[in-house]
Amino acid sequence: VQSWVLMATARAPTNIALIKYWGKRDEALILPTNDSISVTLDPDHLSATTTVAVSPSFKQDRMWLNGKEISLSGGRYQNCLREIRKRAGDVEDEKKGVRIKKEDWEKLHLHIASYNNFPTAAGLASSAAGFACLVFTLAKLMNVKEENGDLSAIARQGSGSACRSMYGGFVKWTMGNDADGSDSIAVQLASNTHWDDLVIIVAVVSSKQKETSSTTGMRGSVETSPLLQYRAKTVVPSRVLQMEEAIKSCDFASLVGLTCADSNQFHAVCLDTSPPIFYMNDTSRRIISLVERWNRSEVSPQVAYTFDAGPNAVLIAPNRKVAGLLLQRLLFQFPPLPDNELASYILGDKSILREAGLQSMKDVEDLP
Ligand code: PMV
Repeated sequence: VQSWVLMATARAPTNIALIKYWGKRDEALILPTNDSISVTLDPDHLSATTTVAVSPSFKQDRMWLNGKEISLSGGRYQNCLREIRKRAGDVEDEKKGVRIKKEDWEKLHLHIASYNNFPTAAGLASSAAGFACLVFTLAKLMNVKEENGDLSAIARQGSGSACRSMYGGFVKWTMGNDADGSDSIAVQLASNTHWDDLVIIVAVVSSKQKETSSTTGMRGSVETSPLLQYRAKTVVPSRVLQMEEAIKSCDFASLVGLTCADSNQFHAVCLDTSPPIFYMNDTSRRIISLVERWNRSEVSPQVAYTFDAGPNAVLIAPNRKVAGLLLQRLLFQFPPLPDNELASYILGDKSILREAGLQSMKDVEDLP
């Protein structure tokens, strides 16, 4: 009996949308109603690490997420596995004396183990990092020759936003025109070294699971919100062009204006949906007010806020100095309390806190 195991491991960070994706024109293939633009986080924070193993002794495909077995029967996993298997190549490992022909992959089973480097309970989108990492690791193990752009069209079928995590830096997901989704892919606008003094702070406002999944929410908005139609056709196309320009020229004031406006419009679409969807809570709205006041009191806008399908705030500062001042302000306004987790989960480089004179606040800590 042959007995061997081949493995591959990779890590992928999550991404934060600056121009939001909200609405599918094709639910099965996950084709969006508009382009979106995001920034990929540093893999040290909010990333998924996935190991995929193949062995003739495996009887079925199985997956463990953070150590707990999960079902792979859902359409999204099945689509990703099928599309990768279709593109698998020959693999040879001389040391182990293993030769896998590309047609063998249809018969071989996989074991997949994925870990997030942040608490899954923290209510932070993990599907983007998870599916990007799954597709990338499978492609590595199975010798898939496709470029990251083509792989992004597969990751997209796991979770729409996952396609943007196939690249670092600033990324655009072009909605595409083709019915089969082959041109609905991610493209890198700028690498992670372009504009690398930006600081992104994720403030966990609530660690509860969201009540309305993005799939259910998007379906409701597509079916009932007139604002979604207007946004997708009229607002987003020009906003995307302006955001591309702001990124290219490192124009922070424009990035702030566009990011905040787009987050607010996305949440307005949610309110315009019947029945309405509320992702932000009172703390989220207090953070918006705080940032709006802050930005208006200065000559030019200083920080951006954006909220996805949940109450947690993502704040973007132009540099470490402003990030430190912002953290001081947030901690003053929202002292760590048992029912207010905001200050307990500020992600990022601890040295920013030190520079801001906050190192003695023991309640402020990085997520593990
Ligand atoms: O890819 P999904 O189904 O998790 O949807 C993501 C939707 C938003 O996070 C709200 C916006 C975005 O572009 O990431």
